Amino acid sequence: MIKEFLEQTRERVLGGTYRTFYSSPLVVGSASGCTITDVEGAEYLDAYNNVPVIGHSSPEIAEAVNRQLLRANTHTRYLDRPVIDYADQLVSVFPDRLESVVFACSGSEANDLALRVAAHAAGRDGVIVTRHAYHGTTRSVAEISPSLVGLDEIGEHVEAIDVPGWDEPEFDAQFAAAIRQGGIRLERRGHPCGAVVLDSALTSDGIVQPRSLVATVEAIHKLGAMYIADEVQSGFGRTGSAWGFERLHVVPDLVTLGKPMANGMPMSAVIGPRDVFAAFGESQRYFNTFAGTAASAAAAGVVLSALESGALTERARSGGARLTAQLAEIIGESEVPARVRHNGLMLGVDFLDRSESNTARRRASFIVEELYRERVLVSTTGPCANVVKLRPPLTISDEELDSIARGFGVALQRLEIAERSHGE
Ligand SMILES: Cc1ncc(COP(=O)(O)O)c(C=O)c1O
Repeated sequence: MIKEFLEQTRERVLGGTYRTFYSSPLVVGSASGCTITDVEGAEYLDAYNNVPVIGHSSPEIAEAVNRQLLRANTHTRYLDRPVIDYADQLVSVFPDRLESVVFACSGSEANDLALRVAAHAAGRDGVIVTRHAYHGTTRSVAEISPSLVGLDEIGEHVEAIDVPGWDEPEFDAQFAAAIRQGGIRLERRGHPCGAVVLDSALTSDGIVQPRSLVATVEAIHKLGAMYIADEVQSGFGRTGSAWGFERLHVVPDLVTLGKPMANGMPMSAVIGPRDVFAAFGESQRYFNTFAGTAASAAAAGVVLSALESGALTERARSGGARLTAQLAEIIGESEVPARVRHNGLMLGVDFLDRSESNTARRRASFIVEELYRERVLVSTTGPCANVVKLRPPLTISDEELDSIARGFGVALQRLEIAERSHGE
């Protein structure tokens, strides 16, 4: 009843840009820890959401935000201690040259700003991204997001390069070669490369964990471009390290942060060298009204302290290994060809079969719907939505991880039964 009412009202009042998940959308009643409870009291394990990294409705976050809202919540045109203290604490968690921060409110805004800063520093506007990259929704960022707008709609100044196969032993060398070739094509089009933007977990390219990107980053620098690490998905412990780039053995020129940064408060950032921001700031100002408020900084401080304690990275490593092992065992016993990959507690179950991409896509979306019936929330990603993506909060318990695996086992069995009855 309430679902129909909300669906109809939403249809009438919300712009037609939104999509809900599932054939029958979830109606949220409340959320706590790793659980979202619907209005009828059914509990769902949230293995989709990369934002509430320390759990939904965290009392610590609520208290920290509340304290600032009742004290002062202004903007970066005044000096306000919680914001400056947080900035100081944040940059201390990065390698030396990444010493300053500029705040924004969303991952899209952070990437938009990073592109502007890089184009200014490099004096070139060409950008290289991966073929299925997603970096956000502002105009300039949509232009570098082929997975959003399609390859035909990316900018003239943008080259989308292939990511080598996830199991390719020469991954780094091949990726470096693709960067060099992309640079040549951009040069020919009159847009020499000024920036290469890479999601450190290659999330929308199917969740890939290269062993190293050292040669790739050398190739980027040889082009005279800046390496922007988009850590909106991979940051704050998700991969088992504080930042995804650490696992790639490289140091970016600029880093963008978002999603889990303030556990649901709108906060994002670009981290980079002081001289680069100073040069940009001399010619162009950047002020973002809601970015760097005390309330958001307070929430972000709670997340950062959890990161610094080692709790998030430890859980990402041990939880990721536990869930991966269980899913691999389930998949190993199944007739359906699939493979589980993981970057800490970001897991992708790849339904392989690139040649039959529709089969892989159908299988992945079947699993998402069936897991929903099993009260586990996940989604898809990858070149043709062929990968089931799991990203639970980094406070998830072993028992909750085991429930996800159990649900996955049931969903995969139903897929086998459905395919057998359709004679596939
Ligand atoms: C890798 C990556 N970058 C940037 C963004 C954009 O972030 P936001 O939705 O906060 O604008 C996303 C969002 O999904 C993302 O996955």
